[in-house]
Amino acid sequence: MTRQLHLNLFIHGRGHHEAAWRHPASSPLPLTDIRYYQDLAQRAERAMFDSIFLADQLALGGDVAQAPRTWLEPITVLAAIAVATSRVGLIATASTTYTEPFNLARQFASIDHISQGRAAWNIVTSWLASAAENYGGEGQVSHADRYARGEEFMAVVKALWDSWAADAIVDDRAGGLYARADRIRSIDHDGPFYTVKGPLNMPRCPQGRPVLVQAGSSDTGRRFAARHAEAVFTAHMAKETAQEFYADLKKLAAAEGRQPQHVLILPGLSPMLGGTEEEAQRLAREVNELTDPEVGRKRLSGRFGGHDFSHLPLDRPLVPADFPPPETVEAARSRTEVILNLVRRDKPTLRQLLGYLAGARGHFVTAGTPEQIADLIEDWFISGAADGFNVMPPILPAQLDAFGAEVIPILRRRGLFRTDYDGATLREHYGLPWPQSVFDDPDWQPQLREAAAGI
Ligand SMILES: Cc1cc2nc3c(=O)[nH]c(=O)nc-3n(C[C@H](O)[C@H](O)[C@H](O)COP(=O)(O)O)c2cc1C
Repeated sequence: MTRQLHLNLFIHGRGHHEAAWRHPASSPLPLTDIRYYQDLAQRAERAMFDSIFLADQLALGGDVAQAPRTWLEPITVLAAIAVATSRVGLIATASTTYTEPFNLARQFASIDHISQGRAAWNIVTSWLASAAENYGGEGQVSHADRYARGEEFMAVVKALWDSWAADAIVDDRAGGLYARADRIRSIDHDGPFYTVKGPLNMPRCPQGRPVLVQAGSSDTGRRFAARHAEAVFTAHMAKETAQEFYADLKKLAAAEGRQPQHVLILPGLSPMLGGTEEEAQRLAREVNELTDPEVGRKRLSGRFGGHDFSHLPLDRPLVPADFPPPETVEAARSRTEVILNLVRRDKPTLRQLLGYLAGARGHFVTAGTPEQIADLIEDWFISGAADGFNVMPPILPAQLDAFGAEVIPILRRRGLFRTDYDGATLREHYGLPWPQSVFDDPDWQPQLREAAAGI
Protein backbone atom coordinates (compact mmCIF):
# COMPACT_ATOMS: atom_id res chain seq x y z
CA MET A 1 0.00 0.00 0.00
CA THR A 2 1.31 3.47 -0.77
CA ARG A 3 2.14 5.59 2.22
CA GLN A 4 -0.86 7.67 3.29
CA LEU A 5 -0.85 11.14 4.77
CA HIS A 6 -2.44 11.61 8.21
CA LEU A 7 -4.36 14.74 9.12
CA ASN A 8 -5.36 15.84 12.59
CA LEU A 9 -7.52 18.88 13.29
CA PHE A 10 -6.24 20.88 16.27
CA ILE A 11 -9.30 22.66 17.69
CA HIS A 12 -8.27 25.78 19.59
CA GLY A 13 -10.43 28.76 20.54
CA ARG A 14 -12.07 30.35 17.52
CA GLY A 15 -8.98 29.57 15.49
CA HIS A 16 -5.24 29.40 16.06
CA HIS A 17 -4.54 33.01 15.24
CA GLU A 18 -4.47 34.92 18.50
CA ALA A 19 -6.96 37.49 17.16
CA ALA A 20 -9.28 34.99 15.42
CA TRP A 21 -11.89 35.44 18.16
CA ARG A 22 -12.43 39.04 16.95
CA HIS A 23 -12.60 38.25 13.24
CA PRO A 24 -16.07 38.24 11.62
CA ALA A 25 -15.43 34.86 9.94
CA SER A 26 -14.95 33.06 13.27
CA SER A 27 -17.79 31.25 15.05
CA PRO A 28 -20.20 33.41 17.08
CA LEU A 29 -20.86 30.57 19.59
CA PRO A 30 -19.54 30.86 23.15
CA LEU A 31 -16.43 28.73 23.76
CA THR A 32 -18.39 26.88 26.43
CA ASP A 33 -21.06 25.73 23.95
CA ILE A 34 -20.59 22.01 23.27
CA ARG A 35 -22.29 22.37 19.87
CA TYR A 36 -19.26 24.37 18.71
CA TYR A 37 -16.91 21.42 19.35
CA GLN A 38 -19.34 18.80 18.07
CA ASP A 39 -19.88 20.79 14.89
CA LEU A 40 -16.13 21.19 14.25
CA ALA A 41 -15.57 17.45 14.78
CA GLN A 42 -18.39 16.65 12.38
CA ARG A 43 -16.85 18.95 9.77
CA ALA A 44 -13.50 17.20 10.29
CA GLU A 45 -15.19 13.83 9.92
CA ARG A 46 -16.88 14.87 6.67
CA ALA A 47 -13.44 15.84 5.35
CA MET A 48 -12.16 12.43 6.62
CA PHE A 49 -9.52 13.76 8.96
CA ASP A 50 -7.89 10.98 11.00
CA SER A 51 -8.57 12.75 14.27
CA ILE A 52 -9.36 15.92 16.20
CA PHE A 53 -7.31 17.19 19.13
CA LEU A 54 -7.92 19.37 22.18
CA ALA A 55 -5.07 20.96 24.15
CA ASP A 56 -5.27 21.92 27.82
CA GLN A 57 -3.66 24.10 30.47
CA LEU A 58 -4.38 23.78 34.16
CA ALA A 59 -4.51 27.49 34.95
CA LEU A 60 -6.22 30.59 33.60
CA GLY A 61 -3.88 32.72 31.46
CA GLY A 62 -3.01 36.18 32.80
CA ASP A 63 -4.29 37.89 29.65
CA VAL A 64 -7.93 36.81 29.78
CA ALA A 65 -8.99 40.47 29.57
CA GLN A 66 -7.80 40.64 25.94
CA ALA A 67 -7.74 37.00 24.86
CA PRO A 68 -10.28 34.15 25.06
CA ARG A 69 -8.48 31.83 27.45
CA THR A 70 -11.53 29.77 28.31
CA TRP A 71 -12.57 26.33 27.21
CA LEU A 72 -14.18 23.18 28.56
CA GLU A 73 -12.34 20.29 30.22
CA PRO A 74 -11.13 18.23 27.21
CA ILE A 75 -11.89 14.65 28.32
CA THR A 76 -15.46 15.67 29.09
CA VAL A 77 -15.69 17.31 25.66
CA LEU A 78 -14.46 14.10 23.98
CA ALA A 79 -17.36 12.18 25.51
CA ALA A 80 -19.81 14.65 23.99
CA ILE A 81 -18.04 14.60 20.61
CA ALA A 82 -17.91 10.79 20.66
CA VAL A 83 -21.70 10.54 20.62
CA ALA A 84 -22.00 13.15 17.85
CA THR A 85 -19.53 11.43 15.45
CA SER A 86 -18.78 7.87 14.37
CA ARG A 87 -15.39 7.66 12.67
CA VAL A 88 -13.04 10.51 13.52
CA GLY A 89 -10.37 9.84 16.18
CA LEU A 90 -10.56 11.80 19.45
CA ILE A 91 -7.43 13.12 21.18
CA ALA A 92 -7.43 15.01 24.47
CA THR A 93 -4.60 16.37 26.55
CA ALA A 94 -4.12 15.32 30.15
CA SER A 95 -1.25 15.84 32.54
CA THR A 96 0.95 13.21 34.18
CA THR A 97 2.04 15.73 36.80
CA TYR A 98 -1.35 16.75 38.16
CA THR A 99 -3.54 13.68 38.22
CA GLU A 100 -3.42 10.07 39.41
CA PRO A 101 -2.77 7.23 36.95
CA PHE A 102 -5.85 5.32 38.12
CA ASN A 103 -8.12 8.33 37.37
CA LEU A 104 -6.59 8.88 33.97
CA ALA A 105 -6.62 5.20 32.93
CA ARG A 106 -10.35 5.03 33.73
CA GLN A 107 -11.16 8.28 31.93
CA PHE A 108 -9.45 7.37 28.66
CA ALA A 109 -10.64 3.76 28.76
CA SER A 110 -14.16 5.16 29.18
CA ILE A 111 -13.76 7.45 26.15
CA ASP A 112 -12.47 4.48 24.16
CA HIS A 113 -15.57 2.47 25.12
CA ILE A 114 -17.94 5.40 24.49
CA SER A 115 -16.41 6.09 21.06
CA GLN A 116 -15.96 2.40 20.19
CA GLY A 117 -12.23 2.61 19.73
CA ARG A 118 -11.39 6.18 18.78
CA ALA A 119 -9.72 7.57 21.93
CA ALA A 120 -6.21 8.96 22.25
CA TRP A 121 -4.33 10.69 25.04
CA ASN A 122 -1.92 13.56 24.43
CA ILE A 123 0.51 12.99 27.29
CA VAL A 124 1.81 16.24 28.76
CA THR A 125 3.86 16.94 31.84
CA SER A 126 2.39 20.50 32.09
CA TRP A 127 5.00 23.16 31.45
CA LEU A 128 2.95 26.14 32.63
CA ALA A 129 4.41 27.46 35.89
CA SER A 130 1.07 28.79 37.19
CA ALA A 131 -0.50 25.29 37.02
CA ALA A 132 1.58 24.32 40.07
CA GLU A 133 -0.24 27.01 42.10
CA ASN A 134 -3.51 25.16 41.57
CA TYR A 135 -2.15 21.81 42.79
CA GLY A 136 -0.64 22.18 46.22
CA GLY A 137 1.26 25.43 45.60
CA GLU A 138 4.70 23.93 46.24
CA GLY A 139 6.16 25.53 43.12
CA GLN A 140 6.71 24.14 39.66
CA VAL A 141 7.98 20.56 39.43
CA SER A 142 11.30 20.75 37.52
CA HIS A 143 11.58 19.63 33.89
CA ALA A 144 13.60 16.51 34.89
CA ASP A 145 11.26 15.53 37.73
CA ARG A 146 8.19 15.97 35.53
CA TYR A 147 9.58 13.46 33.05
CA ALA A 148 10.75 11.05 35.82
CA ARG A 149 7.26 11.06 37.28
CA GLY A 150 5.82 10.74 33.74
CA GLU A 151 7.81 7.54 33.12
CA GLU A 152 6.40 5.83 36.19
CA PHE A 153 2.93 7.17 35.37
CA MET A 154 3.12 5.51 31.94
CA ALA A 155 4.13 2.16 33.40
CA VAL A 156 1.13 2.28 35.73
CA VAL A 157 -1.52 3.31 33.18
CA LYS A 158 -0.32 0.74 30.65
CA ALA A 159 -0.44 -1.99 33.30
CA LEU A 160 -3.94 -0.88 34.31
CA TRP A 161 -5.20 -0.94 30.71
CA ASP A 162 -3.65 -4.40 30.36
CA SER A 163 -5.12 -5.70 33.61
CA TRP A 164 -8.09 -7.23 31.82
CA ALA A 165 -7.92 -9.82 29.03
CA ALA A 166 -10.09 -8.88 26.05
CA ASP A 167 -12.24 -11.98 26.67
CA ALA A 168 -12.66 -11.55 30.45
CA ILE A 169 -16.36 -10.64 30.26
CA VAL A 170 -18.59 -13.67 29.69
CA ASP A 171 -21.97 -12.17 30.69
CA ASP A 172 -23.61 -15.60 30.78
CA ARG A 173 -27.01 -14.95 32.34
CA ALA A 174 -28.12 -18.58 32.23
CA GLY A 175 -24.92 -19.95 33.74
CA GLY A 176 -24.46 -17.09 36.22
CA LEU A 177 -20.91 -16.26 35.12
CA TYR A 178 -20.30 -12.55 34.49
CA ALA A 179 -16.51 -12.44 34.17
CA ARG A 180 -13.61 -14.89 34.29
CA ALA A 181 -11.60 -13.93 37.33
CA ASP A 182 -8.51 -15.66 35.93
CA ARG A 183 -8.56 -13.18 33.03
CA ILE A 184 -8.33 -10.12 35.30
CA ARG A 185 -5.27 -9.38 37.44
CA SER A 186 -4.04 -6.81 39.91
CA ILE A 187 -0.92 -4.84 38.97
CA ASP A 188 0.60 -4.41 42.46
CA HIS A 189 2.67 -1.37 41.50
CA ASP A 190 4.78 0.15 44.26
CA GLY A 191 7.18 2.85 43.02
CA PRO A 192 8.75 6.14 44.12
CA PHE A 193 5.74 8.23 43.03
CA TYR A 194 2.75 5.87 42.82
CA THR A 195 1.34 2.90 44.68
CA VAL A 196 -1.47 1.26 42.73
CA LYS A 197 -2.89 -2.19 43.38
CA GLY A 198 -5.28 -2.50 40.43
CA PRO A 199 -6.82 -4.04 38.46
CA LEU A 200 -8.75 -1.35 36.61
CA ASN A 201 -12.44 -1.48 37.45
CA MET A 202 -13.40 -1.61 33.77
CA PRO A 203 -13.01 -4.17 30.96
CA ARG A 204 -10.24 -3.88 28.37
CA CYS A 205 -11.05 -1.06 25.98
CA PRO A 206 -11.80 -1.58 22.27
CA GLN A 207 -8.35 -0.45 21.10
CA GLY A 208 -6.60 -2.48 23.80
CA ARG A 209 -5.06 0.78 24.93
CA PRO A 210 -6.05 4.26 23.77
CA VAL A 211 -3.58 5.64 21.20
CA LEU A 212 -0.71 7.52 22.87
CA VAL A 213 0.24 10.95 21.56
CA GLN A 214 3.03 13.17 22.85
CA ALA A 215 4.53 16.54 22.05
CA GLY A 216 7.74 17.04 24.01
CA SER A 217 10.69 17.98 21.82
CA SER A 218 13.53 18.52 24.31
CA ASP A 219 16.09 15.68 24.55
CA THR A 220 14.20 14.12 27.44
CA GLY A 221 10.88 14.75 25.68
CA ARG A 222 12.08 13.03 22.50
CA ARG A 223 13.27 9.96 24.42
CA PHE A 224 9.94 9.82 26.23
CA ALA A 225 8.13 10.02 22.86
CA ALA A 226 10.37 7.32 21.37
CA ARG A 227 9.37 4.96 24.20
CA HIS A 228 5.67 5.69 24.42
CA ALA A 229 4.21 7.83 21.63
CA GLU A 230 2.38 6.48 18.60
CA ALA A 231 1.89 9.98 17.20
CA VAL A 232 4.01 13.03 17.95
CA PHE A 233 2.96 16.66 17.61
CA THR A 234 5.80 19.07 17.01
CA ALA A 235 6.31 22.76 16.19
CA HIS A 236 8.70 23.92 13.45
CA MET A 237 9.17 27.19 11.66
CA ALA A 238 11.22 25.62 8.84
CA LYS A 239 11.29 22.34 6.91
CA GLU A 240 14.94 21.74 7.80
CA THR A 241 14.34 21.57 11.57
CA ALA A 242 11.29 19.35 10.96
CA GLN A 243 13.49 16.96 8.94
CA GLU A 244 16.10 16.89 11.70
CA PHE A 245 13.39 16.15 14.30
CA TYR A 246 11.78 13.47 12.10
CA ALA A 247 15.05 11.62 11.50
CA ASP A 248 16.07 11.83 15.14
CA LEU A 249 12.76 10.58 16.54
CA LYS A 250 12.54 7.67 14.10
CA LYS A 251 16.10 6.71 15.05
CA LEU A 252 15.31 6.92 18.77
CA ALA A 253 12.17 4.81 18.28
CA ALA A 254 14.18 2.14 16.45
CA ALA A 255 16.72 2.17 19.31
CA GLU A 256 13.80 1.42 21.67
CA GLY A 257 13.04 -1.67 19.57
CA ARG A 258 9.99 -0.11 17.89
CA GLN A 259 9.03 0.05 14.21
CA PRO A 260 9.68 3.66 13.11
CA GLN A 261 6.46 3.72 11.05
CA HIS A 262 4.52 3.14 14.26
CA VAL A 263 5.54 6.57 15.52
CA LEU A 264 3.81 9.15 13.32
CA ILE A 265 5.35 12.62 13.20
CA LEU A 266 2.77 15.37 12.78
CA PRO A 267 4.18 18.92 12.66
CA GLY A 268 1.82 21.85 13.14
CA LEU A 269 0.67 23.73 10.03
CA SER A 270 -1.43 26.87 10.12
CA PRO A 271 -2.39 27.82 6.56
CA MET A 272 -4.39 30.93 5.72
CA LEU A 273 -6.14 29.99 2.50
CA GLY A 274 -7.40 32.32 -0.21
CA GLY A 275 -8.66 31.87 -3.77
CA THR A 276 -5.59 33.81 -4.88
CA GLU A 277 -2.29 34.52 -3.15
CA GLU A 278 -3.36 38.16 -2.75
CA GLU A 279 -6.61 37.17 -1.05
CA ALA A 280 -4.77 34.85 1.35
CA GLN A 281 -2.28 37.64 2.20
CA ARG A 282 -5.12 40.12 2.68
CA LEU A 283 -6.88 37.77 5.13
CA ALA A 284 -3.62 37.24 7.01
CA ARG A 285 -3.10 41.01 7.23
CA GLU A 286 -6.70 41.54 8.33
CA VAL A 287 -6.38 39.22 11.30
CA ASN A 288 -2.84 40.42 12.15
CA GLU A 289 -4.16 43.95 12.44
CA LEU A 290 -6.49 42.79 15.23
CA THR A 291 -3.62 41.57 17.45
CA ASP A 292 -2.45 43.34 20.59
CA PRO A 293 1.38 43.24 21.08
CA GLU A 294 0.94 43.46 24.85
CA VAL A 295 -1.01 40.15 24.82
CA GLY A 296 1.88 38.63 22.87
CA ARG A 297 4.43 40.01 25.33
CA LYS A 298 2.62 38.31 28.25
CA ARG A 299 2.39 35.04 26.35
CA LEU A 300 6.10 35.17 25.51
CA SER A 301 6.82 35.67 29.19
CA GLY A 302 4.73 32.55 29.98
CA ARG A 303 6.71 30.55 27.43
CA PHE A 304 9.95 31.56 29.17
CA GLY A 305 8.78 30.61 32.66
CA GLY A 306 7.63 34.13 33.62
CA HIS A 307 10.74 36.00 32.34
CA ASP A 308 10.19 39.78 32.23
CA PHE A 309 10.19 41.17 28.67
CA SER A 310 8.41 44.42 29.60
CA HIS A 311 11.51 46.61 29.14
CA LEU A 312 12.21 45.48 25.55
CA PRO A 313 11.33 48.05 22.88
CA LEU A 314 8.99 46.78 20.17
CA ASP A 315 10.99 47.98 17.17
CA ARG A 316 14.67 47.11 17.80
CA PRO A 317 16.03 43.86 16.29
CA LEU A 318 16.22 41.16 18.95
CA VAL A 319 19.40 39.34 19.97
CA PRO A 320 19.65 35.98 21.84
CA ALA A 321 20.87 37.85 24.94
CA ASP A 322 17.37 39.35 25.27
CA PHE A 323 16.18 35.86 26.34
CA PRO A 324 17.09 33.61 29.26
CA PRO A 325 19.20 30.57 28.22
CA PRO A 326 16.84 27.70 27.25
CA GLU A 327 18.54 25.24 29.62
CA THR A 328 17.45 27.39 32.57
CA VAL A 329 13.79 27.43 31.46
CA GLU A 330 11.61 24.97 33.36
CA ALA A 331 8.65 25.50 30.99
CA ALA A 332 8.33 24.12 27.42
CA ARG A 333 12.04 23.93 26.62
CA SER A 334 11.73 22.93 22.98
CA ARG A 335 9.47 25.87 22.07
CA THR A 336 11.98 28.29 23.60
CA GLU A 337 14.59 26.75 21.24
CA VAL A 338 12.24 27.27 18.28
CA ILE A 339 11.88 30.94 19.19
CA LEU A 340 15.63 31.46 19.77
CA ASN A 341 16.47 29.79 16.46
CA LEU A 342 14.15 32.25 14.71
CA VAL A 343 15.81 35.19 16.51
CA ARG A 344 19.28 33.96 15.45
CA ARG A 345 18.17 33.33 11.86
CA ASP A 346 15.92 36.31 11.05
CA LYS A 347 16.83 38.90 13.74
CA PRO A 348 13.21 40.11 13.97
CA THR A 349 12.10 43.04 16.12
CA LEU A 350 9.96 42.13 19.12
CA ARG A 351 6.91 43.41 17.20
CA GLN A 352 7.73 41.13 14.25
CA LEU A 353 8.38 38.13 16.52
CA LEU A 354 5.12 38.67 18.38
CA GLY A 355 3.32 39.01 15.02
CA TYR A 356 4.71 35.66 13.94
CA LEU A 357 3.90 33.92 17.23
CA ALA A 358 0.36 35.37 17.09
CA GLY A 359 -0.22 33.21 14.01
CA ALA A 360 0.11 29.84 15.74
CA ARG A 361 2.45 30.15 18.75
CA GLY A 362 5.62 28.97 16.97
CA HIS A 363 4.13 26.47 14.53
CA PHE A 364 4.57 26.82 10.77
CA VAL A 365 2.38 29.66 9.51
CA THR A 366 1.79 30.36 5.84
CA ALA A 367 -0.72 32.02 3.52
CA GLY A 368 -1.47 30.86 0.00
CA THR A 369 -3.74 29.18 -2.50
CA PRO A 370 -4.99 25.60 -1.99
CA GLU A 371 -2.53 24.43 -4.67
CA GLN A 372 0.39 26.09 -2.85
CA ILE A 373 -0.61 24.56 0.50
CA ALA A 374 -1.03 21.10 -1.09
CA ASP A 375 2.45 21.48 -2.64
CA LEU A 376 3.92 22.31 0.74
CA ILE A 377 2.19 19.34 2.39
CA GLU A 378 3.37 16.97 -0.31
CA ASP A 379 6.91 18.35 -0.17
CA TRP A 380 7.24 17.87 3.62
CA PHE A 381 5.57 14.44 3.37
CA ILE A 382 7.90 13.07 0.71
CA SER A 383 11.09 14.69 1.96
CA GLY A 384 11.26 13.16 5.44
CA ALA A 385 9.77 16.04 7.41
CA ALA A 386 6.29 14.66 8.24
CA ASP A 387 3.97 11.64 8.19
CA GLY A 388 1.08 14.06 8.17
CA PHE A 389 0.07 17.33 9.78
CA ASN A 390 -1.51 18.78 12.84
CA VAL A 391 -3.75 21.20 10.93
CA MET A 392 -4.26 24.43 12.86
CA PRO A 393 -6.77 26.60 10.97
CA PRO A 394 -6.11 30.26 11.79
CA ILE A 395 -9.87 31.02 11.84
CA LEU A 396 -12.55 28.46 12.82
CA PRO A 397 -14.63 27.21 11.20
CA ALA A 398 -14.05 29.24 7.99
CA GLN A 399 -10.46 28.15 7.35
CA LEU A 400 -11.19 24.51 8.24
CA ASP A 401 -13.94 24.48 5.63
CA ALA A 402 -11.60 26.00 3.06
CA PHE A 403 -9.02 23.31 3.85
CA GLY A 404 -11.62 20.52 3.58
CA ALA A 405 -13.18 21.83 0.39
CA GLU A 406 -10.08 23.01 -1.46
CA VAL A 407 -6.87 21.37 -0.18
CA ILE A 408 -8.05 17.83 0.61
CA PRO A 409 -9.43 17.17 -2.91
CA ILE A 410 -6.02 18.09 -4.37
CA LEU A 411 -4.28 15.72 -1.92
CA ARG A 412 -6.74 12.99 -2.95
CA ARG A 413 -6.12 13.56 -6.65
CA ARG A 414 -2.44 13.11 -5.94
CA GLY A 415 -3.17 9.78 -4.18
CA LEU A 416 -1.91 11.09 -0.85
CA PHE A 417 -5.09 11.09 1.23
CA ARG A 418 -7.98 8.69 1.84
CA THR A 419 -11.22 8.88 -0.13
CA ASP A 420 -13.03 6.95 2.61
CA TYR A 421 -12.30 5.63 6.08
CA ASP A 422 -11.02 2.03 5.83
CA GLY A 423 -11.42 1.19 9.50
CA ALA A 424 -13.54 2.16 12.48
CA THR A 425 -10.85 2.90 15.10
CA LEU A 426 -8.12 5.50 15.39
CA ARG A 427 -5.51 2.70 15.43
CA GLU A 428 -6.76 1.69 12.00
CA HIS A 429 -6.79 5.27 10.65
CA TYR A 430 -3.21 5.76 11.87
CA GLY A 431 -2.06 2.28 10.72
CA LEU A 432 -0.95 1.31 14.24
CA PRO A 433 -0.59 -2.18 15.69
CA TRP A 434 -2.85 -3.58 18.42
CA PRO A 435 -1.14 -3.52 21.82
CA GLN A 436 -0.37 -6.92 23.28
CA SER A 437 -1.02 -7.52 26.95
CA VAL A 438 0.27 -10.05 29.39
CA PHE A 439 -2.80 -12.17 28.60
CA ASP A 440 -1.60 -12.52 24.99
CA ASP A 441 1.72 -13.96 26.19
CA PRO A 442 1.50 -17.78 26.21
CA ASP A 443 4.10 -17.99 29.02
CA TRP A 444 1.78 -16.14 31.32
CA GLN A 445 -1.32 -18.30 30.92
CA PRO A 446 -0.28 -21.22 33.20
CA GLN A 447 0.86 -18.83 35.91
CA LEU A 448 -2.50 -17.06 35.79
CA ARG A 449 -4.40 -20.33 35.96
CA GLU A 450 -2.26 -21.39 38.94
CA ALA A 451 -2.85 -18.05 40.65
CA ALA A 452 -6.62 -18.30 40.11
CA ALA A 453 -6.64 -21.85 41.46
CA GLY A 454 -4.76 -20.65 44.55
CA ILE A 455 -1.73 -22.85 43.84
C1 LIG B 1 0.86 20.64 19.08
C2 LIG B 1 1.28 20.70 20.51
C3 LIG B 1 0.30 20.70 21.49
C4 LIG B 1 0.61 20.77 22.83
N1 LIG B 1 -0.37 20.78 23.72
C5 LIG B 1 -0.09 20.95 25.04
C6 LIG B 1 -1.12 21.05 25.98
O1 LIG B 1 -2.29 20.96 25.64
N2 LIG B 1 -0.80 21.23 27.28
C7 LIG B 1 0.50 21.31 27.70
O2 LIG B 1 0.73 21.47 28.89
N3 LIG B 1 1.52 21.22 26.81
C8 LIG B 1 1.24 21.05 25.49
N4 LIG B 1 2.26 21.00 24.59
C9 LIG B 1 3.62 21.06 25.07
C10 LIG B 1 4.32 19.72 25.09
O3 LIG B 1 3.50 18.67 25.52
C11 LIG B 1 5.52 19.72 26.01
O4 LIG B 1 5.10 19.83 27.34
C12 LIG B 1 6.39 20.87 25.76
O5 LIG B 1 6.78 20.86 24.41
C13 LIG B 1 7.55 20.81 26.72
O6 LIG B 1 8.23 19.61 26.60
P1 LIG B 1 9.75 19.66 26.22
O7 LIG B 1 10.37 20.54 27.24
O8 LIG B 1 10.19 18.23 26.28
O9 LIG B 1 9.80 20.21 24.85
C14 LIG B 1 1.97 20.88 23.22
C15 LIG B 1 2.97 20.90 22.24
C16 LIG B 1 2.64 20.81 20.89
C17 LIG B 1 3.72 20.80 19.87
